Amino acid sequence: LATARRPSVIWLSFQECTGCTESLTRSGTPTVEALILDHLSLDYHHTLQAASGAAAEQARRDAMAANYGSYVLVVDGSIPTADGGVWSTIAGVTNLEMLRETMEGAALVIAVGTCAAYGGIPAAAAVTAPRLNQSGASSVGDLMDAGTIPSLPLVNVSGCPPVPDVISGTIAYFLAYGSLPELDDQNRPRAYYGKTVHDQCPRLSHYQNGEFALAFDDEGAQKGYCLYLLGCKGPETYNACPTVRWNLNTSFPMHSGHGCLGCSEAAFWDRALAADGS
Ligand code: SF4
Ligand code: SF4
Ligand code: F3S
Repeated sequence: LATARRPSVIWLSFQECTGCTESLTRSGTPTVEALILDHLSLDYHHTLQAASGAAAEQARRDAMAANYGSYVLVVDGSIPTADGGVWSTIAGVTNLEMLRETMEGAALVIAVGTCAAYGGIPAAAAVTAPRLNQSGASSVGDLMDAGTIPSLPLVNVSGCPPVPDVISGTIAYFLAYGSLPELDDQNRPRAYYGKTVHDQCPRLSHYQNGEFALAFDDEGAQKGYCLYLLGCKGPETYNACPTVRWNLNTSFPMHSGHGCLGCSEAAFWDRALAADGS
């Protein structure tokens, strides 16, 4: 990575909560400081850039022109398509227009977070009627499949948010090798999404022994028993969180006593509500 040239990265944030960027700032290998100061040129990112308004939009267009055909486009957040896309606009244009324009000279797109990879929470059914994805929130891949935007090489880095080192590691892989990592059938890097959370979980031996917590504060929970009967989605969820954890490899949900919500899989929010019966 140290010998790689500093390619331009343009990061577009659409219907999102800034959680994916928050996560990235906790990256340890490489750190976000090393990534954006030493290894790449982050030419546009709402939260991290100094420029604002017209100057920010000019910086995006300058970076596109100067690096046409080679820049990395990172997208976090879903893209609203209902009502002409007016549910979310930046600098007077819809997210869909900005995505289409910025894709023109991109070498690849990295969809960071479950919102960009699958639609995520913005695409979930509303809790109250009408229970619809009212903004028509779409993932980058869905828009490519529908022919709404051009098809470019796409890497999905799912998770709500994704593990910080999985975001930075995926970007770093492309910078170092100039190619995509091996991907699974949902365009996710197999190195990070090749195993279920369950198969890497420190509570797995309790699952195998039939030792389950039945309440979050019962004796089983205090002994670190398996959380499957409390709704854990680890067996059907593919992610690296048990081994590449948050906050410099410190922790992940089951370390703090909570089951997996399935945050790196499509429609995880709707599936959780359905399981809850609500
Ligand atoms: Fe926020 Fe989750 Fe969407 Fe990331 S994937 S922008 S953390 S809601
Ligand atoms: Fe599997 Fe969840 Fe139990 Fe861990 S807590 S062993 S992921 S079911
Ligand atoms: Fe997400 Fe489940 Fe890991 S909720 S962070 S995939 S434990």
